[in-house]
Amino acid sequence: MSTPRTVARTASDDLVAVEFRVNGTPVSLRVPARMTLSDALRENLGLTGTHIGCEHGVCGMCTILIDGDASRACLLFACQVDGAEIMTVEGLGKPDDLHPLQEAFGRHHGLQCGFCTPGFLMSSYDLLDHEPDIQREDLPEELSGVICRCTGYRNIIDAVDDVAANHRDGLPAPKNCGQHTLAGRAPTGSTAAADESAVVAASDQEAAPEQIQLPSGEPTIAINVTTSLESPPQDVARVFEDIQLLARCLPGAELTEELGNNWYRGRARVALGPIRLSFNGFAHLLEHKSDRMHVLGQAKDTSGGRAQAEIHLLAVPDGTGTRLEAEARVYLVGRIAGFGRSLAGDVSRRMFEDFAQAVDQAARGEEPIAGSNPPSAFGLLLNTFKDRFRRAREKGRSIRGGHSDGRSSEKG
Ligand code: FES
Ligand code: FES
Repeated sequence: MSTPRTVARTASDDLVAVEFRVNGTPVSLRVPARMTLSDALRENLGLTGTHIGCEHGVCGMCTILIDGDASRACLLFACQVDGAEIMTVEGLGKPDDLHPLQEAFGRHHGLQCGFCTPGFLMSSYDLLDHEPDIQREDLPEELSGVICRCTGYRNIIDAVDDVAANHRDGLPAPKNCGQHTLAGRAPTGSTAAADESAVVAASDQEAAPEQIQLPSGEPTIAINVTTSLESPPQDVARVFEDIQLLARCLPGAELTEELGNNWYRGRARVALGPIRLSFNGFAHLLEHKSDRMHVLGQAKDTSGGRAQAEIHLLAVPDGTGTRLEAEARVYLVGRIAGFGRSLAGDVSRRMFEDFAQAVDQAARGEEPIAGSNPPSAFGLLLNTFKDRFRRAREKGRSIRGGHSDGRSSEKG
């Protein structure tokens, strides 16, 4: 009789350590088990040249090389590539020293918007590397794994055929592989070249600051929101007291480490349109009671953006339910600040309402669903526009002498 095999199981949200080399740089990450390789490259390492189109393995935008073979980064979990040698489009050439494929794509006008270009470059590299004798008539079929919506393919075929014809004796090696400092690297002050093992997710190594100091002046977003919960105050108090449970109510957020003295390390993911931001940082609870909370937080995203916030939360008895009041000052620097105060403010308010609903859920003894996913761009924006439409309609009614009583109210 055979001995039963022991299978190690990991929950999808558990952090898993993974090490690989990307464009010649050793990388050490701790990522959720379910994080795709494309997300890890883009969000944890700042390698945003790997584009994401379908996330179903169809469009080819996310094509990279794994151990020398073209692969779809959207179809792999990051934890599956432990020990692998990865090359992304960033490894192909430098701005002042392009790879022949990049140079040929430019010369033959093989790109318009450029969204498919990293996928085509990596797919072409793989093809010419494995089949230097490839003939022009075979190129359309061989390159059909990447979809372009702009160029009509003819110029792409011209570019790849040109490089193939000029390098039958072997495709030139990539020109930008070696030690690099990646955006997710811990700010240890050392360069990657000086520290062979240095590249890690920033939040995993960065020490907590002595204190979180908010900038002076006007915040980017000021929010003052009140939401009615059906749950009674004693049930909401139970959620407030359990900081891990409360964190799971925050859309897209997770606490990754308790650091003691009311300091926590965590991350938050926000997706707005094509921009996905992954913030890593710290929260410091200045006051933590069963009906109130005063929190300071600061976080950075892998592209260098920064968010700092001061949040007051208050749970007040309200009939048989609870009124949740939130006041926040948020300071943003970087890409997220580019959304404009109005839209960023609307999205933040919407996120607070999702948070309040999740608190209500947790207070009823259910597992909150808000924390399991990053806030969906489409969902948030759709709800934001619905809110704007609702507010405009209510304003119209009140001008006409009517009155509308929504569940949530907001100022600021
Ligand atoms: S994003 Fe991976 S194939 Fe489309
Ligand atoms: S150049 Fe726009 S999708 Fe190909």
